[in-house]
Amino acid sequence: MCSRVWFVTDRRISQEYPQVQILRALRQRCAEDDVEFRSLLMDQIVLTITGGQLGLRVDQELVTTYPQVVVVRVPTPWVQSDSDITVLRHLEKLGCRLLNRPQAILNCVNKFWTFQELAGHGVPLPDTFSYGGHENFRKMIDEAEPLGYPVVVKNARGHRGKTVFLARDKHHLSDLSHLIRHDAPYLFQEYVKESHGKDVRVILVGGRVVGSMLRCSTDGRMQSNCSLGGVGMMYPLSEQGKQLAIQVSNILGMDVCGIDLLQRNDGSFVVCEANANVGFIAFDQVCGMDVAGSVADYALSLLPGRLGRKGSLLSVVSSTSETGSEPEACPPASAVPEVVCAMSVGSTSSESDPELAPPPHPTPKLPDASYNFSALLASEIKLLTK
Ligand SMILES: Nc1ncnc2c1ncn2[C@@H]1O[C@H](COP(=O)(O)OP(=O)(O)O)[C@@H](O)[C@H]1O
Ligand SMILES: [Mg+2]
Repeated sequence: MCSRVWFVTDRRISQEYPQVQILRALRQRCAEDDVEFRSLLMDQIVLTITGGQLGLRVDQELVTTYPQVVVVRVPTPWVQSDSDITVLRHLEKLGCRLLNRPQAILNCVNKFWTFQELAGHGVPLPDTFSYGGHENFRKMIDEAEPLGYPVVVKNARGHRGKTVFLARDKHHLSDLSHLIRHDAPYLFQEYVKESHGKDVRVILVGGRVVGSMLRCSTDGRMQSNCSLGGVGMMYPLSEQGKQLAIQVSNILGMDVCGIDLLQRNDGSFVVCEANANVGFIAFDQVCGMDVAGSVADYALSLLPGRLGRKGSLLSVVSSTSETGSEPEACPPASAVPEVVCAMSVGSTSSESDPELAPPPHPTPKLPDASYNFSALLASEIKLLTK
């Protein structure tokens, strides 16, 4: 049987670094391994049910042979269950192995849904409240009293740290309530004070830790998101942190994900959020990784009869993730080492927590020494939109 892999992404994010890199890695691995490869944009796919059977058409042509494995990149904040998830469900029902699977993507679309999945499994989570009724934010000012102050307030569908606030007290919360848009419910969360301005981003592929990066805000704000000016640096995650990230990835059913952890004073971690469409430009640079390569290797390992063959994930598991040393405190911005990558603000990226524009200059940590972002983009986009 001929092996086939597809890469399916959304037109709006097809030109961004992670998608371009994954496309490139998949194309290369498939060529080397004699695997048929095709890349598609969501809006090229037509779903059919004819004679009681599911089918597919692409650009007015009937698809007669389906891929065994489909690598999916959809912009989590915009995911629509009636369109994007419908396409993914269709592919899954046709027998394709998706990474990530639609249910896993849905588990990360809404921050409260993620916590609902994780609750009851012994995963450490900050206490979190949400509400029924679309416009009940004000009601929560009283209801969330047990969480104490300051309290963290987040839009359940927010991303890039933009709709995350730290409310000082009841009056502040009341002032905030006038600014709230009710497109999605909010959640109220215990403030992990010790982790103010920092978190640990752990990237996992196939349930294994590829690497971890400490992110620190540089302006005193609580959110450490790179899109808000936070900086990233390589971080040797403790065994406890790794096991927690793996547990979360497994419960959520993720193949490729970014798990963000907050750290308490005693060194233990709590889960902040899970990203199904994790960005990795800063991660690649800071940690000297090739996440796209790991994704491609993993995708090919899922082809029938290939498990454990060439491209084993073991070869990509970072030494940084295996050191097992205890975490250190977040250094002040002035002490940030060279591998730290500061991200630009205002990118159009759609990642749930995006890795943004390419750096102004290539750093020695880049996986590809001949890295030329514009040229790469131009050639790959042409291929992708073919
Ligand atoms: N409960 C919390 N206590 C302390 N800091 C937090 C808490 N929740 C979030 N943060 C900080 O805010 C950032 C953004 O929150 P997050 O839930 O990841 O939303 P987003 O999806 O917008 O990135 C986190 O990366 C972390 O630095
Ligand atoms: Mg986040």
